Amino acid sequence: MPTHSAAEKPEKKVEKYLDLGHSEVENHAKAQQKVFEEHVSRTSSASRIISEFFSTNIFGFVYHYLRSRFGKRHPYHAYPSEGDRGIYQLTSSVPSRETVTLALLSDWGSDTTESDAVAHLVARYAPDYTIHLGDIYFVGTPHEVEENFTAPYASWYYGASGSLALCGNHEMYSNGAAYYQRLLPAMYVNVDGVKKSQRAAFFCLENEHWRIIGLDTGYTSVGRPFLEVLSPPDCHLRDEQMAWLRDVVKLNDPNDKRGLVFLSHHPYISAFREDYFKPGEQLCELLGEAARPVVWIWGHDHRLVGYHLGQNRSELQAYGRCIGHGGMPVETKMPHNDKEADKLAFYDRRVRTRIKRHELGYNGFCHLQLEGARLTATYRDLEDTTVMEECWKINLENANLDWEIKEKHKDLTCFD
Ligand SMILES: [Fe+2]
Repeated sequence: MPTHSAAEKPEKKVEKYLDLGHSEVENHAKAQQKVFEEHVSRTSSASRIISEFFSTNIFGFVYHYLRSRFGKRHPYHAYPSEGDRGIYQLTSSVPSRETVTLALLSDWGSDTTESDAVAHLVARYAPDYTIHLGDIYFVGTPHEVEENFTAPYASWYYGASGSLALCGNHEMYSNGAAYYQRLLPAMYVNVDGVKKSQRAAFFCLENEHWRIIGLDTGYTSVGRPFLEVLSPPDCHLRDEQMAWLRDVVKLNDPNDKRGLVFLSHHPYISAFREDYFKPGEQLCELLGEAARPVVWIWGHDHRLVGYHLGQNRSELQAYGRCIGHGGMPVETKMPHNDKEADKLAFYDRRVRTRIKRHELGYNGFCHLQLEGARLTATYRDLEDTTVMEECWKINLENANLDWEIKEKHKDLTCFD
């Protein structure tokens, strides 16, 4: 573990993320503040502290801010027409075991005591695959990628069968450069003993019953200055990704009745903040006759929420699950009105701690287990408590998806 992390109290670290807005200015400022504090923690020279303050906090902030707002976005990555096409067979890392397990974490890249605790818990379960659903704080810089994922002391757990990362809006606050250049080369899928590096921000893991499709909503989540006021970013799936879904994944094949699990950073449905219907609309149109209820897991909202089977301006019915409680302060407030609250099926509103006037919930992750036609999702908090366990069963004859709750914590808030 880095010495500066160990020196800070947990409350100190998590406080930086309280009231975190979604403006790039604010996030850049906080990234620079973090750089500054780390410099301070490593030096005892007063003059050094002052000089670091000016060089990193002010000039550094302006530099990063301008680069992010006006700099060039990193080129988009898609799969080549031959070789690695981004579809991989779900494989257990234990040859004699048929069950395949995945740990899903979102908004985890915060380098806090809490995110470390969640990662260490993931390691105890040793899932075959680990997937980050995006957002590395504050602005997805190389340093932040290193601290969370690639440094020798970083706590991210790399699954033996694969470790993959989606792109969030925070990675794009620094134009996606560190995400594409530093993080993706460290991510991989193990194919017959060979680690294939992750090449694009979207992918498909599949077996005979299920297809788990990672979607990239991050690249189109951040707009250009001024223009975004007139035309707000809608997180649409870019043409390269749509072509891949159509021509390589063949999502529109009506004979393919496998269960579909979509993963994305941005929510298809949200009762709390803006939701993003565009990707769902695009998928619904592409699926055509093959449209059927899906499981869709996302982050972005810093809480653990399950939505009733529903849709958002398209016919695509989804069991929406928000798992943005990976490493940031977890929110527990109810939606602003009853109409929004009606969308909720369950919501972990348990209070773990209070900092200043804030009541913070429990960080955690989603543990997926695939066994034949059954897909079980277990939501574990950082104390290794089962908050909720639910199960879907896919019928390969008619693509019917059955759902049932297996277990729930006595203090989990559930809605009829
Ligand atoms: Fe986000």
